[in-house]
Amino acid sequence: MKILVTGGAGYIGSQVVLDLYRRGDEPVILDNLSKGHQEAVARACTFGGRFIRGDVADRPLVERILREEGIEAVIHFAADSLVGESTENPGKYFRNNISGGLALLDAVVAAGVKKFIFSSTAAVYGEPSIIPIPEDHRLQPTNPYGFSKMTFEGMLAAYDRAYGLNFISLRYFNAAGADPEGMIGEDHRPETHLIPLLLQTALGLREHLKLFGTDYPTFDGTCIRDYIHVADLSQAHLLALDALNRGAGSTLYNLGNGNGYSNRQVIEAVRKVTGVDIPVEEAPRRPGDPAVLVASSEKIRAELGWRPKFPHLEEIIATAWEWHRRHPHGYGEK
Ligand SMILES: NC(=O)c1ccc[n+]([C@@H]2O[C@H](COP(=O)([O-])OP(=O)(O)OC[C@H]3O[C@@H](n4cnc5c(N)ncnc54)[C@H](O)[C@@H]3O)[C@@H](O)[C@H]2O)c1
Repeated sequence: MKILVTGGAGYIGSQVVLDLYRRGDEPVILDNLSKGHQEAVARACTFGGRFIRGDVADRPLVERILREEGIEAVIHFAADSLVGESTENPGKYFRNNISGGLALLDAVVAAGVKKFIFSSTAAVYGEPSIIPIPEDHRLQPTNPYGFSKMTFEGMLAAYDRAYGLNFISLRYFNAAGADPEGMIGEDHRPETHLIPLLLQTALGLREHLKLFGTDYPTFDGTCIRDYIHVADLSQAHLLALDALNRGAGSTLYNLGNGNGYSNRQVIEAVRKVTGVDIPVEEAPRRPGDPAVLVASSEKIRAELGWRPKFPHLEEIIATAWEWHRRHPHGYGEK
């Protein structure tokens, strides 16, 4: 099957490209390389594949790709996704994630493509009132990034009603880890995620880890998050694609492990895996960080049979550590 993967040069997108190839599908990557890496594309396309450097907002380009390549489904990762930046520069997020996404949707409808998978986020929920968070929890994002993803989900629902676009929106919790076979891994610039920051500190690339908030109403005072291995995330996309191919209707799923780990527990687990006593500096809370974000992934387990292969935090960290040890400067070329 030929699939357009927007943002396929990024962390999660490149893993999905690799896994699509591993099972015999034919992904075509569209990425403007604003954040992604040429080297990630080269590695993800080891077994074949096509990369087009371009922007999802370029509707004529996208429509041409969809028609000329005979694309049957789109997996849409391309987005800006830094919560703090979205608060300082909301227009960037509305332009890229909403307007750019709209141009993509219009091209998809014009080209007659009916299957669409979207990278959504736990940030659509804001401060949750129920833990673990079910999909029907109210949506109340606390930052423009979460708002942009919630809005795009609304646009998908409207395009389904108007044009019969079948979509599955996957609301990821905290993606972590690296390809278990070591082909690709995480290289965000700037890095804002806890596990890679800790691993870079373990490698001596950072002086210390800044721990934001030690007075949350949790058992050890630090935030609790749900970590999901990037390979398990990737498998969920393949299952979602299979469901759309079987004629499943539009829906959305949370994707997390259902286990919460506090920041202090993650620090301890990274110390254990790396054998390095990582220095930590305690700092005040960051505005807008909920105390606890843990997913209920019961729906995707029940409906698509999704089961994480790497549910344990130390396993997730071990694959990431392997990647960071071998590639201390990531893909290196930026
Ligand atoms: N990493 C996480 O923990 C996490 C959690 C929840 C949701 N998500 C969502 O998953 C998706 C992928 O996340 P990631 O961590 O792989 O991010 P990433 O930044 O590594 O990948 C995004 C890719 O999209 C590309 N891109 C951005 N705007 C584009 C545009 N207009 N046209 C073409 N390409 C464009 C970037 O160059 C990059 O390669 C994002 O939509 C993000 O919001 C990620």
